[in-house]
Amino acid sequence: MARMDSFSTVIRTASHEQHVEAETSTFMSDLLGGRLGVDAYVRYTEQLWFVYEALEAGAEALASDPVTGPFIQPELFRLPALERDLTHLRGADWRTGLTALPATRAYADRVRECAEQWPAGYIAHHYTRYLGDLSGGQIIRDKAERTWGFARKGDGVRFYVFEGIANPAAFKRGYRELLDGVRADDLEKQRIVAECRDAFALNTAVFRALGDEFPLSA
Ligand code: HEM
Repeated sequence: MARMDSFSTVIRTASHEQHVEAETSTFMSDLLGGRLGVDAYVRYTEQLWFVYEALEAGAEALASDPVTGPFIQPELFRLPALERDLTHLRGADWRTGLTALPATRAYADRVRECAEQWPAGYIAHHYTRYLGDLSGGQIIRDKAERTWGFARKGDGVRFYVFEGIANPAAFKRGYRELLDGVRADDLEKQRIVAECRDAFALNTAVFRALGDEFPLSA
């Protein structure tokens, strides 16, 4: 990595390969290709609930952290939207029988561990999910609306709708500035980048498990 690269560039470049892997995973390809039933989408949304529960349960305590605090922005919080989606997808008793796949459990556990013990590491998880949701998430939303007939930006896909962010491109620019100004030394930054790679791998593992659960019968 070139010495002059900004941290936001370093972290994006370092995770590029994993991004391609996640994006082209069998489950994601099948989902985006409109080849899966809504049950697969529901199961995926359930897994997201466990991940965001871990991300956002720890957020309040991190808001006052000198390194991680600036990243904690309520307009990003996804849990209320996810719970509305799950109410729509699973019914009012959506919590009953909601289960995390082992891969999801491992992912959520790691997020929680960072939130509690290594705030700077939490930034890697924050970046991997929220910047992705603001980017590729919009492609997933569009596909889900078309494939399963959800109302545009309505129940079922509210997870992908950031009501509090009018201009996602501007928000992402601001987010990259936060990354560039992160108060960590070079070694700590390297550790954050490594954690980001791990965060992508944890996502890919969830996709693999979902792919196993929803194979195409072809
Ligand atoms: C099929 C699924 C996906 C598609 C189509 C997709 C697409 C995209 C696109 C087009 C961008 C660039 C946006 C921009 O430059 O403003 C992006 C960025 C990003 N995506 Fe994805 N993505 C997908 C899956 C994922 C997954 C599973 C993750 C991780 C959990 C992820 C994490 C990210 C992150 C962190 C960025 C921001 C990169 C940066 O600018 O620093 N994406 N994605």
